[in-house]
Amino acid sequence: MTELTFQLNNEDETIAVGQKLARHIQAPLTLYLTGDLGAGKTTLSRGLIQGLGHKGAVKSPTYTLVEPYELDGVQVYHFDLYRLNDPEELEFMGIRDYFTNSSLCIVEWPDKGEGLLPDADIHLHLNYVYQGREIHIRALTDSGKTLLAAIK
Ligand SMILES: Nc1ncnc2c1ncn2[C@@H]1O[C@H](COP(=O)(O)OP(=O)(O)O)[C@@H](O)[C@H]1O
Ligand SMILES: [Mg+2]
Repeated sequence: MTELTFQLNNEDETIAVGQKLARHIQAPLTLYLTGDLGAGKTTLSRGLIQGLGHKGAVKSPTYTLVEPYELDGVQVYHFDLYRLNDPEELEFMGIRDYFTNSSLCIVEWPDKGEGLLPDADIHLHLNYVYQGREIHIRALTDSGKTLLAAIK
């Protein structure tokens, strides 16, 4: 199984997808999150990061580009590359150091880092549909497929 689409009627349902991912996700894994501004990428990230045990707020790393968390001994990195002007900036921030064989990387606006950003295991795309959202999930590696099968 490599693809899945479902409807998210409200914010809680978006958070629930993040929480469900948190229950099954295993590092190392790279997750791309795409969709227009306000589509729900950060909302879903919040469900995932809090589902992994983070107690505080999950702020959007729009200006810092990355927010690190250590949850249950796992390094979790939440990226928002919206303000990246050039993928080369990823070299300056030492991007390879984040994508280790034991980290979990959540990347909003991965297209801004095209060419220098490591590939995703799973790609989640959010669309506006009426007042709600639709999420399309595509698994790109074996780890991604395992995760997709677990949350379906
Ligand atoms: N399934 C949904 N239906 C309707 N509104 C949603 C849904 N999921 C999230 N939202 C709302 O949409 C906005 C999404 O904001 P945010 O998660 O910051 O988007 P992004 O990170 O994609 O720019 C929030 O105001 C949130 O409450
Ligand atoms: Mg966001």
